[in-house]
Amino acid sequence: MAYFIGIDTSTTATKALLMDENGGVLGVASKEYSFETPQPLWSEQDPALWWQATVESVRQVLAKTGVEVASIKGIGLTGQMHGLVLLDEKGDVLRPAILWNDGRTGPQCDTIRLRLGREKLIQITGNDALTGFTAPKILWVQEHEPEIWKRARHILLPKDYLRFRLTGEFASDRAGGSGTILFDLAKRDWSPEMLAALDIPAEFLPRTYEGTDVTGTLSPAVASELGLSANIPIFGGGGDQAAAAVGTGAVRAGVVSLSLGTSGVVFATTDGPVIEPEGRLHAFCHSVPGKWHLMGVMLSAAGSLRWHRDTFAPNLAYDKLLAPAAEIPAGSDGLFFLPYLTGERTPHPDPLARGAFVGLTVRHGFAHLTRAVLEGVAFGLRDSFELMKSAGLETITQVRVTGGGARSPLWRQILADVFGAEIVTVNTEEGAAYGAALLAATGSGVFPSVEAACDATIRITGVTGPGEDSAVYEEIYPLYRGLYPALKPTFTAITT
Ligand code: XUL
Repeated sequence: MAYFIGIDTSTTATKALLMDENGGVLGVASKEYSFETPQPLWSEQDPALWWQATVESVRQVLAKTGVEVASIKGIGLTGQMHGLVLLDEKGDVLRPAILWNDGRTGPQCDTIRLRLGREKLIQITGNDALTGFTAPKILWVQEHEPEIWKRARHILLPKDYLRFRLTGEFASDRAGGSGTILFDLAKRDWSPEMLAALDIPAEFLPRTYEGTDVTGTLSPAVASELGLSANIPIFGGGGDQAAAAVGTGAVRAGVVSLSLGTSGVVFATTDGPVIEPEGRLHAFCHSVPGKWHLMGVMLSAAGSLRWHRDTFAPNLAYDKLLAPAAEIPAGSDGLFFLPYLTGERTPHPDPLARGAFVGLTVRHGFAHLTRAVLEGVAFGLRDSFELMKSAGLETITQVRVTGGGARSPLWRQILADVFGAEIVTVNTEEGAAYGAALLAATGSGVFPSVEAACDATIRITGVTGPGEDSAVYEEIYPLYRGLYPALKPTFTAITT
């Protein structure tokens, strides 16, 4: 039996997952860490944490499972996207990594739009410039830390810094690369035009590979530290969202995945590079070779429900919180919730957007508020579906839902009703790390394609179809859509 490891370098922990060649998960181990916010809007992390956490979690999963080390045939990498790691010519880290959730680069986003022209920027990269992406972070270092920039020789993403420590190679996967917005989306590689406009030397950037390509092998110098054999192939893998889509089987056009964690991510595979003309959806390369995807990101999805519970009923279990909400009619008797508790990314890229309950009367009680939160999140996610449809994706037949929020049958029903689509649950819960292991197994030849790997390993465990409340939601969705434009001037004017 051959075994594969998926390593996920996330923002809060590094996770190592051990999978057998049939897709069975033998064990998972993870090591947590935190990130720093040295100034308002800043978010940074020391890359050394990722390495230490990788060593610990790999050693732990090996000890837990007792698998023969010689039968581990490949490692797939995934992790937080968009982060900036800068190395000098010796490969030493020059400053803490600037992470995906860092918001300091508003002015640099304007500079990028100005230098390229917004239309051209979207045409080349598929995306508008957002503070989360990598390119504006590079401009920030050029402007604010010129002495660091002068010493910089290598630009890497967090997962690819780990790859460098594992293999000694400078390499990246194309899903991750496209999230820098330095990519020519259609060509699936760095864009000479973007690099020239932003004064970034091409030789600073790593070579790019598909998710199932070998990007290097485990160097003998670190193999013993990890408890592994030297020369195990390290595969491309992918950014966490693309790898998570593989891990839930969202690898074909028409099948959409929805991850309902703190944030909510709507992810649709496309056979070609599809762009939302205003750049309101992210358009990146998929970790499935030769495929792309569109993505909408809501910043507070299940995070909104957690806020609601923690604020108003801190000791209540979620099932006790949600049961009374099931008795409230669809539409919460005219009460709406806007889920912009931490600003928003899709469809309103607006850090100043605020949450709101709108339409309160004395008839409304706590259960109404709870149901309105579930419905408001569903409406906000539908906004991403609508953008996908307007970008040309007509056939969304199935939505595969994962994450903590997916456990609630009530929420699944509301989502099916609001989207007018089937909501399905699947047998895999390990998301990105599992997807990375499947990419490694496919690259090793265990499966003929990523699609075949998903067909062989991922099963549907439940289906919720749209019911009679669909008609109610169809009628009130336009009211929800009117709320953000109406409140935007107020959000902008609120200064505390
Ligand atoms: C994707 C994104 C997050 C990060 C952190 O665009 O910003 O998913 O990758 O996990």
